[in-house]
Amino acid sequence: MAMLEINNLDKSFGKRKAVDDLSFSVREGEVFGLLGPNGAGKSTTLSLISGLQRPNKGRVTVGGINVGEDSLRAKALIGVVPQEPAIYPQLSARANLRFWGELNGLSKKELASAVERALTIVGLTDRADERCSKLSGGMKRRLNIAAGLIHSPKLLIMDEPTVGVDPQSRHHILETVKELKAQGTTIIYTSHYVEEVEQLCDRVAIMDHGKLLSIGTLPELLGQAGEYQELIITLRTTPESILPVIQALPWVQNAVVTNDVLAILTANAELALPQVFQTIVENELELAEIKINKPSLESLFLKLTGRTLRD
Ligand SMILES: Nc1ncnc2c1ncn2[C@@H]1O[C@H](COP(=O)(O)OP(=O)(O)O)[C@@H](O)[C@H]1O
Ligand SMILES: [Mg+2]
Repeated sequence: MAMLEINNLDKSFGKRKAVDDLSFSVREGEVFGLLGPNGAGKSTTLSLISGLQRPNKGRVTVGGINVGEDSLRAKALIGVVPQEPAIYPQLSARANLRFWGELNGLSKKELASAVERALTIVGLTDRADERCSKLSGGMKRRLNIAAGLIHSPKLLIMDEPTVGVDPQSRHHILETVKELKAQGTTIIYTSHYVEEVEQLCDRVAIMDHGKLLSIGTLPELLGQAGEYQELIITLRTTPESILPVIQALPWVQNAVVTNDVLAILTANAELALPQVFQTIVENELELAEIKINKPSLESLFLKLTGRTLRD
């Protein structure tokens, strides 16, 4: 059964279309990745799903309930973890979670066990009685996740939960997603980090400029990336003029430059590399690092858009 279905969703802010005729569905129990660069329309899509914003057009159904028609019943099924933590810094983690639990209609009886369960899942039990202002940024993010799952939602929506967090909390957050999946929660995991999406997600939708570019399981999407590899070349300085020269080389499918990092999409790294080297030498540029990446969601995005997901 589809846990979430969205059909022909449109959302504009003034003349800007943030979400443009978007349709996809998420199956019960899967971790579904929403991958796209900053400004792609991911957060807007999530707020249309959770009923925080209304679409200009289209329909969202969660667990068979139309969010536009019966938003209260739909919202009871959804947990939201927004990008910005919504936490009272003066209160403890436990008190924050109690507050969120009450807000979500949990009874006194349900509340205590729900709070402990949420604390355990995100690994904050031993810090639960300290003021939140004393927690690290990553711990606040984890508390934010606990708040989103306090009422045991069927569908948990996470908006870039690992941006700007320390490696330990990041690891915790990824483990939390796996744990929740094992417990049967359906999860929408939004990110612009390819590695996370590749590690966690059963299926992935790639979006850009409000539109769906591609959707499928990881093997399906990597199949679309084809045999393409990505050459990542870091230079000491990168003059703008180098890009058209690189793009015109044989075996170079596409190339972009961001902050002295040249990303080149190629069907054959062995044949492209000598040509790229020669160009670098001829232009008297200094090389800092070279990496060859296997086909990935990153190289698929580059193939589809001519741009990289990285900022
Ligand atoms: N409340 C808003 N008012 C005006 N423009 C907005 C608003 N929210 C988002 N946008 C615009 O919509 C586009 C998509 O934004 P967003 O959904 O936040 O993308 P993402 O989460 O993928 O980074 C961007 O161009 C953004 O500037
Ligand atoms: Mg966003």
